[in-house]
Amino acid sequence: MTDETDAHDHQHEHGHEHGHGHGHAHEHGHDHDHGHDDDDHEHGHDHGHAHGHEHEHAHDHGHAHEHGSPESFDERAATWDDDAKIARAATTARRIAEEVALTGTERLFEYGAGTGLVAEALRDRVGPITMADLSAGMRAVAQAKIDDGRLAGARVWDIDLATDVVGDAEEFDLVVTSMVLHHVKDLTTTLAAFAGMLAPGGHVCVIDLDAEDGSFHGADVDVRHGFDRAEIASLLEAAGFVDVHVSDCDVVAHDDGDYGLFLAVGTAPG
Ligand SMILES: C[S@@+](CC[C@H](N)C(=O)[O-])C[C@H]1O[C@@H](n2cnc3c(N)ncnc32)[C@H](O)[C@@H]1O
Repeated sequence: MTDETDAHDHQHEHGHEHGHGHGHAHEHGHDHDHGHDDDDHEHGHDHGHAHGHEHEHAHDHGHAHEHGSPESFDERAATWDDDAKIARAATTARRIAEEVALTGTERLFEYGAGTGLVAEALRDRVGPITMADLSAGMRAVAQAKIDDGRLAGARVWDIDLATDVVGDAEEFDLVVTSMVLHHVKDLTTTLAAFAGMLAPGGHVCVIDLDAEDGSFHGADVDVRHGFDRAEIASLLEAAGFVDVHVSDCDVVAHDDGDYGLFLAVGTAPG
């Protein structure tokens, strides 16, 4: 099965059917190997620190793809999984399981799933898994994990919740999005989409950077500089979530210091 898109129940906001990717193999994973940092880029070299250093510099290497763009993630997909990010995903999954009582049957939707690291870490604690990402390269790596059994039975969707609408036929019990929302411009629409996809009593889990000074990605990267915890709570409440609480998730080590990650949990009203 090479159809990564499987977006049969999606309807594009503008009326035309989504799911154009049926049958596309998306053999991306092209490795340009610029050998440099990029937005969210984490070097392969090992600094010998327990939880690994994550480098998010925005050096100007004059390459074509805007930092943080889907294409820049395409280029990094093949080498995305490293010890630091695998450990971060394990911590994230553990913290989610500590905050949300999981039965092992939850229909999980992970938005901005990248290569599926968090989904992999949650795999044995939830039910069916659906992943979405804007980057074709990331989706191709996730699809390869489905094909080789690491994420057996999961689905990968090519959707942008700022513009695409997930049909009523799809419903989830858990929505997870990790290190993604700082890239998302239209948070109101995206968070409302999460709320609309969840069954009553379902949970959203947002993992992201605490408010920072912009040094995580660097000055020329157009991303949000993390979130104030009260701000993310307000955004979730404005999207209709109840029982919103925000707690510590992890700390990402960086050359310039440590960056806190929060876990915000909200419940879809019953
Ligand atoms: C920092 S990576 C995190 C990947 C994965 N969640 C993880 O923890 O390893 C951000 C991911 O979000 C995706 N992304 C960025 N903007 C997005 C958007 N507006 N909608 C969906 N995915 C997006 C990128 O393609 C990338 O895979």
